Amino acid sequence: MYLLKWTRTVRQISDTRLLKSQAYLNGSFVGVGNAPVTNPSTGEVIGSVPDFGADEATEAVEAAAAAFEAWAAQTPKQRSIALRHWFELVVSAKEDLAAILTSEQGKPVSEALGEIDYAASYIEYYAEEAKRISGEVIPPHRHGVRNIALRQPIGVVAAITPWNFPAAMITRKIAPALAAGCTIVLKPAPETPLTALALAELAGRAGFPAGVVNIITGDARAIGAVLTSHPKVRLVSFTGSTEVGKLLMRQASHSVKKVALELGGNAPFIVFDDADLDAAVEGAMLSKFRNMGQTCICANRFYVQASVHDAFIEKLSRRVSELQIGDGFAEGTTQGPLISEEAILKVEAHLADAVSKGASVVVGGKRHPMGGTFFEPTVISGASSDMILARQETFGPVAPVFRFENEKDAIAAANDTESGLAAYFYSSDLSRIFRVMEKLEYGMVGINAGLLSTELAPFGGIKESGNSREGSHHGILEFTELKYASIGGITA
Ligand code: SIN
Repeated sequence: MYLLKWTRTVRQISDTRLLKSQAYLNGSFVGVGNAPVTNPSTGEVIGSVPDFGADEATEAVEAAAAAFEAWAAQTPKQRSIALRHWFELVVSAKEDLAAILTSEQGKPVSEALGEIDYAASYIEYYAEEAKRISGEVIPPHRHGVRNIALRQPIGVVAAITPWNFPAAMITRKIAPALAAGCTIVLKPAPETPLTALALAELAGRAGFPAGVVNIITGDARAIGAVLTSHPKVRLVSFTGSTEVGKLLMRQASHSVKKVALELGGNAPFIVFDDADLDAAVEGAMLSKFRNMGQTCICANRFYVQASVHDAFIEKLSRRVSELQIGDGFAEGTTQGPLISEEAILKVEAHLADAVSKGASVVVGGKRHPMGGTFFEPTVISGASSDMILARQETFGPVAPVFRFENEKDAIAAANDTESGLAAYFYSSDLSRIFRVMEKLEYGMVGINAGLLSTELAPFGGIKESGNSREGSHHGILEFTELKYASIGGITA
């Protein structure tokens, strides 16, 4: 059924020019597609985008800088109306966008549809929030003065986004930036540029003036070097690996740009013996296997209290063996491929290391007979702190289970990492819920919940997982500067 729909959708996409092979700079689609885009499920080349470099990145920044003054001068309501229009276009093109997303990223089309809704929710939210950026009236420090603090748009924003959420990670940055009055140059991941360009096509139709939104594709190093060094860029917003985040931070430090980072995680998922075990298993499935474990907030380490350890493994393994691996457009598919051979090699290396140090594979543990980058969803028992997967994000469908005896040990193990993005735990004891929530060193904590993402809440990490927040009213403040003004000569 989905295959038929897919054929029809591809036709619709080309009719409506949503499937792009050009980058979007200064209000026009430009360049020649010479960098291939591949479907990770079939290995087929499904499109191509320009392999741009430093010159085009500089042009994009100049275009964004030229558009900034007029865009920042629009009233919040005018910006809100443009965002609302974009939101409506994204919602009405939802099926086409999901089809593009699945074809370049691999996730099941049902999940891709969910991601488009999630992506649209940021546009809708920030269309509303554009009208609510307020400053402060500060008490005077002497007679005859009045003090205020204004929130003004920070300026040109450079954004670099990942392949795991090709739509939502883009709107989560572009929408608040535009709402605040900033203009933007965005570089999508080379694996998934088509969703980004389809969103740009819709932004163009929504009527954003030329130069306000720019999407550049191509050489990550060359483009990244311009985005982090050009004097007109005032904020670099990046979602991706901690390693690249650190590099961008170093590069941006030369011109003292603000850097907003959403980096890798190593999420613990703790199951206490007072938890509802079935609910914990369902939460574990959502947290671990969404997008084949390729999310920064997905559970990376399962800590289960000794008395419920075996029962949890049994229930989890049963649910994992029910997962259906396949092409994202095939009916019933719950798990698509991993994004690349490199990703599958990392999963295999983590598993081999764990098994060599005493872990046992309970379910899965190997490449799927479909070949390519399909991998069997996996549960392993006997995980321990000396294994690579205890310290590094596997970013794949592997659930390693560690046994613990008491709350203190579980918290210590959960916090024993440089990462601090998301953590999860299941318990029915209210005192424990507050105690553990307060002690976990993470930016986000899911309690009796395996999914926490929403446009309404601040998403972000601490420690080496990041330094900013996206979503909610906190997210828009990242794109503003606070200006203090003291006005003298006020007579009584
Ligand atoms: C991520 O992988 O960082 C994004 C996950 C989400 O927003 O739910």
